[in-house]
Amino acid sequence: MTVTLPTFTPLEESLFLTLYARALDHRRPRPILGDAVADQIVHTLAYDYDALHPDTNLILSVALRARKIDQVASAFLARHPGAIGLDLGAGLDTRAARLDPPPTTDWYDLDLPAVADARRQLVPERPDTHVIAADVRDPAWLDAVPTDRPAVIVADGLMGFLSEDELVTLWNRLVAHFPAGEIVFNSYTRFAIWLARHARGTKSVARLVRFPGMDDPREPETWNPKLHLVREILLSREPEVAEFPAGWRRYHRLAAHSTAWSRTGTIVLHYRF
Ligand SMILES: C[S@@+](CC[C@H](N)C(=O)[O-])C[C@H]1O[C@@H](n2cnc3c(N)ncnc32)[C@H](O)[C@@H]1O
Repeated sequence: MTVTLPTFTPLEESLFLTLYARALDHRRPRPILGDAVADQIVHTLAYDYDALHPDTNLILSVALRARKIDQVASAFLARHPGAIGLDLGAGLDTRAARLDPPPTTDWYDLDLPAVADARRQLVPERPDTHVIAADVRDPAWLDAVPTDRPAVIVADGLMGFLSEDELVTLWNRLVAHFPAGEIVFNSYTRFAIWLARHARGTKSVARLVRFPGMDDPREPETWNPKLHLVREILLSREPEVAEFPAGWRRYHRLAAHSTAWSRTGTIVLHYRF
């Protein structure tokens, strides 16, 4: 069965790049994330994937950053099985299926209304998962989310599309809403933002990028005194690089010697509050 979706805005359409990258990772002989459901969704959807041109490094980075975010969320849910999980700008990602949280967890996937509708049609439903159709910048959507449970909040691919002020406001709102929790998201230095605006592999989203980039992972600690950096995860230094094809493995092993160089690539930032 092939599903044809209504026309998305370019912002909403950005989900196809990450979805397709995870599907292509799944087709590699040694996948990093191995998300079979992403590949099934790609096969189901009539879309011009060839126009996206994700290069190998983008595929590896998208897969590995998703894996790192999953690891943080999974460890949090193991310690807090009654927690709330929130995926902001979830697109058609199948994170809840990958994490398989216990039935005592409530997991919320938020995205803009057209994407939320598509998600309801395409992503296999699970008990205790909920879709929120909203603009993440609108404070009203949080009213639907319980305030009395710890939360793990993930944002994979969202941050680049928000201005710094919007991000600070969002993080402050989330920290105020829950008694405690963790936030994990992929971040970009100023140079990485420049690259995202100019590289061929991210051409489809280049004009949508609004975040200026963040060079110091401790900067969010100045946004809210409750936010504490747990770890800056530089993908070049993660063990999964051993599974990369030889050329990219050599590149990342070299980059791993230098923090500045590693930061030009994909970074996952993990905070607690
Ligand atoms: C690059 S995609 C990433 C999607 C998904 N997290 C993934 O990894 O495949 C960015 C997503 O953020 C969503 N998005 C962008 N701005 C948003 C906003 N202001 N409110 C809610 N969702 C937003 C887009 O609709 C899109 O689904």
